[in-house]
Amino acid sequence: MRRFDDKSVLVTGAASGIGRACALRFAREGAQVGLLDWDAAGNRETAELCAEQGAEPIELDCDVRDAGGLERAFEELLDAFGRLDVLVTCAGVYAGQPLEAVPDASWNEVLEINLGGVFRCNRLAAAPMKEQAAGSIVNVSSMAGKTSFPATAQYSASKSGVIGLTRSVALELAPFGVTANVICPGNTETPMLHEVARAVAPGLGMSPPEWLAMRAADCPLGRFAEPEEIAGVAAFLASEDARYLTGQALAVDGGMVLC
Ligand SMILES: NC(=O)c1ccc[n+]([C@@H]2O[C@H](COP(=O)([O-])OP(=O)(O)OC[C@H]3O[C@@H](n4cnc5c(N)ncnc54)[C@H](O)[C@@H]3O)[C@@H](O)[C@H]2O)c1
Repeated sequence: MRRFDDKSVLVTGAASGIGRACALRFAREGAQVGLLDWDAAGNRETAELCAEQGAEPIELDCDVRDAGGLERAFEELLDAFGRLDVLVTCAGVYAGQPLEAVPDASWNEVLEINLGGVFRCNRLAAAPMKEQAAGSIVNVSSMAGKTSFPATAQYSASKSGVIGLTRSVALELAPFGVTANVICPGNTETPMLHEVARAVAPGLGMSPPEWLAMRAADCPLGRFAEPEEIAGVAAFLASEDARYLTGQALAVDGGMVLC
């Protein structure tokens, strides 16, 4: 018997990085997985990788800003699998500029995707999980949600918001036996990390590889996380071993943020 046999898991941001690693981890451990992302080609690749683990995932191509599209995606998953045991919200974008240069459009986009998208998915997960009187929500924030960095107001605000949102969801759903927790990853080896390097390094007079080397050296464990290391914690939070754990924001960052 595998840990997630007969469980239904929906992963957002499943086309890349941490979301893909989560989808593969749950698939390998027996789950039926729904892959939600706006990148249909990436989602297809993840589906093929999950199929190699013996899973039959469903692809839900959707923008997490699209409330109607999300509603249809959740319905499709519930029709296909009959229940929703685990929601993992990895869909996210990075943006950063000095405060006075942050365009309204970027502020709105980052908040709408990183915080609004998580809110909408949590809202849609509530009804089936309450009805089942069981379920685990794992929202993905960032170490930038626990602490803050300069020149990334919109990203930090969105990621702190995910922690506050999750605490409220945890308290509201606890009487129904549903848990909600947050993972706050540190720098993790994904396409987003390299996007951040390209955005931030020039402002510090560095090349992206120099910035990456500095960030790895700053980390007490001396390296970046692999996406699979974040996925392992998501699986733990969704497992029976974590059934008494709710409302927590767990830093998975190699010791970067100690609070
Ligand atoms: N990589 C890191 O160092 C790091 C650190 C801390 C937190 N995080 C967070 O982890 C999560 C996953 O990031 P990642 O590093 O795997 O990045 P990634 O860019 O590899 O993956 C992000 C995924 O989200 C999807 N996505 C973005 N906007 C979307 C939208 N509007 N609708 C649907 N899908 C959308 C993308 O298509 C992509 O597949 C993000 O929330 C990110 O903020 C990442």
